[in-house]
Amino acid sequence: MKSTILAVLLLGTATVGFAEVSVERGEYLVRGPAGCGNCHTPQGPNGPDMSNELGGFLVEKNAQFEAWAANITPGGRVAGWSDTELARAIREGIRPDGTVIGPPMPIGLYRGLGDDDLMSIVAFLRTLPASDNKTPASTYNIPLPPAYGPPIDSVTAPPRGVTVEYGAYLAGPVAHCMECHTTFGPTGPMFETSLGAGGYEFHGPWGVSVAPNITPHEDGVAGYSDSELKAIITTGTRPDGSRMLPPMGYAHYARTDEADIDAIILYLRSIPPLPDAS
Ligand code: HEC
Ligand code: HEC
Repeated sequence: MKSTILAVLLLGTATVGFAEVSVERGEYLVRGPAGCGNCHTPQGPNGPDMSNELGGFLVEKNAQFEAWAANITPGGRVAGWSDTELARAIREGIRPDGTVIGPPMPIGLYRGLGDDDLMSIVAFLRTLPASDNKTPASTYNIPLPPAYGPPIDSVTAPPRGVTVEYGAYLAGPVAHCMECHTTFGPTGPMFETSLGAGGYEFHGPWGVSVAPNITPHEDGVAGYSDSELKAIITTGTRPDGSRMLPPMGYAHYARTDEADIDAIILYLRSIPPLPDAS
C-alpha cells in the first residue's frame, strides 16, 4: 500500500519535472541553447550589448533580404500581443496581423518546440526590461511562404535526459544547430538528404564562414572525441587552439547545461554519416 502511494507520488513528480511552464526554464532556453539573442540582441565590436538585450538587430543583409530581428522586449510591439499570439509568432511564424515572419528566424524548426518550453520562453520574454530600441522593417526580395505548415495545436517535447531523442530536440527545435549545418537547397536546408552535411556560407564583418559537416563521417566530426566536441561547441575553440568564427552562438552554448551538450553530441553521433557537400 505504502509503496503504491510512493510510486504514484514519484510518477507525479517526474511528470511535473519535464512538463512545467516557468520563467526560469524560459530564461535558460533563451539565454542558453535557444540563443535568441544571437540574432535579436544588438552586437557591437565587443560582443552583444546586454544593456539592450533582445532589443533588435540587423541580422543579415544580402541580395535576397535585409532581415531585422525586431525588439522582442516588453518595449517592442510584442507588448500588445497576447501570450498565445506571441507563442504563435515564435512557433508558427505568423504575427497577430496575419503577416509571416521571414528568414533567417528558424521557424521550420521552431515548429517542433514543445508547448511548455514555448510558453516558458514567452513567460521569460515578458520579464525583460523594456527596450525602446526601434528597428526598420525587414525587406524580402524573395517570396515568403503563406505559412510554414498547418496550424499547430500542441507539441509534446521528449522527456529531458541524455538521450538521442532529447538531443535531437535540442539540436533541432531548440538550438537549431541543424538549420545552419544542413546543406541548403532552393527551399532551405535539405533535412531529408543532407542533414548535418554543412556547406552554408555566412557573410559578415568577420568575412566568410562556412558551416562544416557535423555528421559522424570522417569529413565531419568522427575524428573529434566527445570532450573535444564539447569544447568546440561551448568555447568556439578547436583542439588545435584555433578560434572559430561567428555566427555560431558559442556564448549561448557556454550557458547550456553539460547534460544538454552531452545529449546533443549523442545525437550527432547517431545521424547518418555523410561526406562533405561538394
Ligand atoms: C537566426 C536568427 C534568429 C533567431 C535565432 C531568432 N530570431 Fe526571432 N526573428 C529573426 C528575424 C530576422 C525576425 C524578423 C523577420 C521579419 O521581419 O520578417 C524575427 C522575428 C521575431 C519575432 C516577431 C517580432 C515582430 O515584432 O514582428 C518574434 C516574436 C521573435 N522573432 C522571437 C524569437 C525568439 C523568442 C527566439 C528564440 C527562441 C528567436 N526569435 C530567435 C531572427 C531570429
Ligand atoms: C547560426 C549558424 C550556426 C548555428 C546555429 C550552429 N552552428 Fe556550428 N558552426 C557554424 C559555423 C559557421 C561554423 C564554422 C566556424 C569557423 O569555421 O570558424 C561552425 C562550426 C561548428 C563545429 C566545428 C566543426 C569542425 O569540424 O571544425 C561544430 C562541431 C559545430 N559547429 C556544432 C554545432 C552544434 C552542436 C550546434 C548547436 C548546439 C551548432 N553548431 C550551431 C554555424 C552554426
